[in-house]
Amino acid sequence: MKQTARQLVTSFSFLMAAAGAAAAASQLPQIVKKDGRFALMVDGAPFVILGGQAQNSSNYPLALNKVFAAIKDMHANTLEIPVAWEQIEREEGKFDFSYVDTLVAEARKNKVKLVLLWFGTWKNTGPSYTPEWVKFNNARFPRMVSKDGKITYCLSPQGEETLKADKKAFVALMAHIKKIDEAQRTVIMVQVENEVGTYGFARDYAPKAEAQFNQPVPQAVLDYKKSPVPLAKSGTWKQVYGDYADEYFHAYSIASYIEEIAKAGRAVYNLPMYVNNSQRDSTEDPVKPWHENFASGGPTYDVIDIYRAAAPHIDFAGPDIYGPNSKKFNASLRLFQRKDNPLMVPEMSNAAEYVRYTYLVLGKGAIGFSPFGIDYADYSNFPLGHKAIDKTMVEPFGKIYAAFRPMERQWAKWAFEGRTYGVAEGDDREPQTVDMKGWKATVSFREWQFGEREYFKDIKDVPAGTEIPNGGVSIAQISDNEFIIIGQRARVKIDQAEGKSSMWGRVEEGHYDAAGKWIMERNWNGDQTDYGLNLTGNPVVLKVTVGTY
Ligand code: DGJ
Repeated sequence: MKQTARQLVTSFSFLMAAAGAAAAASQLPQIVKKDGRFALMVDGAPFVILGGQAQNSSNYPLALNKVFAAIKDMHANTLEIPVAWEQIEREEGKFDFSYVDTLVAEARKNKVKLVLLWFGTWKNTGPSYTPEWVKFNNARFPRMVSKDGKITYCLSPQGEETLKADKKAFVALMAHIKKIDEAQRTVIMVQVENEVGTYGFARDYAPKAEAQFNQPVPQAVLDYKKSPVPLAKSGTWKQVYGDYADEYFHAYSIASYIEEIAKAGRAVYNLPMYVNNSQRDSTEDPVKPWHENFASGGPTYDVIDIYRAAAPHIDFAGPDIYGPNSKKFNASLRLFQRKDNPLMVPEMSNAAEYVRYTYLVLGKGAIGFSPFGIDYADYSNFPLGHKAIDKTMVEPFGKIYAAFRPMERQWAKWAFEGRTYGVAEGDDREPQTVDMKGWKATVSFREWQFGEREYFKDIKDVPAGTEIPNGGVSIAQISDNEFIIIGQRARVKIDQAEGKSSMWGRVEEGHYDAAGKWIMERNWNGDQTDYGLNLTGNPVVLKVTVGTY
């Protein structure tokens, strides 16, 4: 058929667009940064991990059914699950990736992405996931030595053979993932080691570590990390960092070890990589030198700068949050969301009082969020997490994820553009305000759906289901006067920022369809809007306009 010049241009543009879309779709996952914010790009577009993490021993083919059943009930889009060094290299030099193959195939069948957790030299600081040929060979794989000269439980970051062996296994794993998954990219990210650091002592005191401790602090560290108390500008760790030197040196040693592993793995298959962190008190002020209540050398918020300096192949450090206190929770997010550190919560307790934080974390623009223990294996980490191993564990999160899922790509894009806000009910149950562009949201809790508190002063009763704080709201300001609101057990009011008279335009309840089109199910009005937007225990998505008069 003969084509006009115009038709040719049109079909050429179409082909170019199609080629662009195909190229974007085949891009490896990566973390990108713009205007101080981050996006996790998956198949060429921002993606938000609505995740769940399996338990610590479910990384075997025959255990996966119980994991995927929970992930399905959770409506998660991503599973975080370990791959252990002990399972892929039980015998030195002989690799077995049958679990990884099954895992990736099952994930595809279940239509979820994977974040793999490399349990290598360190898992919760210890070597329990290393193969037996590593665990019991102190001569080849040295353990750290305490100040009083005793051999400790923890493998030393100065162990050259340990690093070589861990790296070799990790590179083999990454090469295997590349081989089986590069075309489909089910695996979107990798955590390198797990909750590193050491409990009970600040660092390795073996002669090799001692010698390094007495060397000058590397320039890269000096450039990033200022001493909390002004001391020498350069010199040994002690001279520059005083009482903080032991922890900082240890953080540097572990971060440098992890860097070697991540760098080698990414050279083979370049997926985003991160480290997770068993936290120190996020409200300690001023931050004290290491003391015995947290793991020294792990990527706690006070040493993120050292990890940035020593481990450029690690994209970020994420907080594992196992304290329900709302002040501390908020403080942790503030400390880990930095211009050089995207926010992701790779682990959080799955207990009921944490459910509200889903809205806070997603509203803050996190690239990922994942409660821990989303798995029907016969184990509960209560009192850290939920007591019962059944649907009551996943359903409260599942309801929220189910509401987010249809708009997960839109949400990730709005978050990247800095349009999203999050609120979780505080332990004080008090109202909170959110300043947005031109508008202010007020979120209050334990309200009835009808009327204002002062109308019904003698009602002492409280709404059922609010016995523990579990209200939360995420808001996206999608244009100047338009918002997407999703939440539970909260009342939301939006007022013009300078106090001009304003009112709701539309309050549509609905969802986005697969093509990204908003589908209205009903428009809230009358009782449903006269006293704010009163969200119950069943999360809904509202598309709201407001205006002034
Ligand atoms: C944090 C660790 O990273 C997890 O693997 C797990 O051990 C939890 N603590 C406790 O259940």
